[in-house]
Amino acid sequence: LQTARVMDGKSIARSIRSGIACEVNRMKEATGKSPGLALVLVGKRRDSQTFIRVKLKACCEVGITTLVEELPEECMEDELLRVVSRLNGDPSVHGIIVQLPLPKHINEEKILDVISPEKDVDGFHPLNMGNLAMKGREPLFIPCAPKSCIELLLRSNVEIIGKRAVVIGRSKIVGLPTSLLLQRHHATVSTVHAFTRNPEQITREADILVADIGIPNIVRGNWLKPGAVVVDMGTNQVKDSSGFRITGDVYYEEAIKVASAVTPVPGGVGPITISMLLSNTLDSAKRALR
Ligand code: GUN
Repeated sequence: LQTARVMDGKSIARSIRSGIACEVNRMKEATGKSPGLALVLVGKRRDSQTFIRVKLKACCEVGITTLVEELPEECMEDELLRVVSRLNGDPSVHGIIVQLPLPKHINEEKILDVISPEKDVDGFHPLNMGNLAMKGREPLFIPCAPKSCIELLLRSNVEIIGKRAVVIGRSKIVGLPTSLLLQRHHATVSTVHAFTRNPEQITREADILVADIGIPNIVRGNWLKPGAVVVDMGTNQVKDSSGFRITGDVYYEEAIKVASAVTPVPGGVGPITISMLLSNTLDSAKRALR
């Protein structure tokens, strides 16, 4: 028996994007300029190629100009640093994304450190991440997936203040910044990760459970408190008889019988995450053109 409401990310994303498209139009009329996003892809990872394609299409739909820099898998760290520096200095570029993960021979931290914090629409620069972590400070950008999680909760009328939130995962892209952002919204936040003993005991306390693990269907129905709100941030590519498809970290068929609300994958936080990228890029352009 299904108890859960399914939180539809696609419709939320659609309404956010139509607002962004209007603002981009207005900017073009007022300044003759549009927001510009540069996307850097190193190598040929299937998942990264898919993410880039989705981001390009979304930009195109709202009138954000894009620029793609593709580098070969074996490119040197210096080459990538030079590309980022050039984009830092390009006034038509308001946002820079270096698609992660990078090949192993490249030091990811070194690359993220050189992206201008003013163009860091992913929010992964330590200045932005540090300001997100510290009360009383405001980052220039908040990472898109965590922002999407909060946006989804607020637009689904889920109260966050004072709630017990458990985040599974501590990645810089999702888990860590989501924990920080939930704290900013006054949730009581616990983190569960690979070294946590008896994780189900902790997840069963969660009013709001956020999953960022990267293992398909690992969060079972008995990991959940009845009535919990479950946000599945997983984007796992799995291969079946009909080809590749995306699946989340949560065992959806079980979760809908225990939770009060769940996000589907695909069609949950994913589309909103892309909308947050568009929104960060627009914000950056507004600051630059002010
Ligand atoms: N890889 C997976 N998600 C993301 C993201 O949001 N930004 C970047 N740069 N790389 C990713």
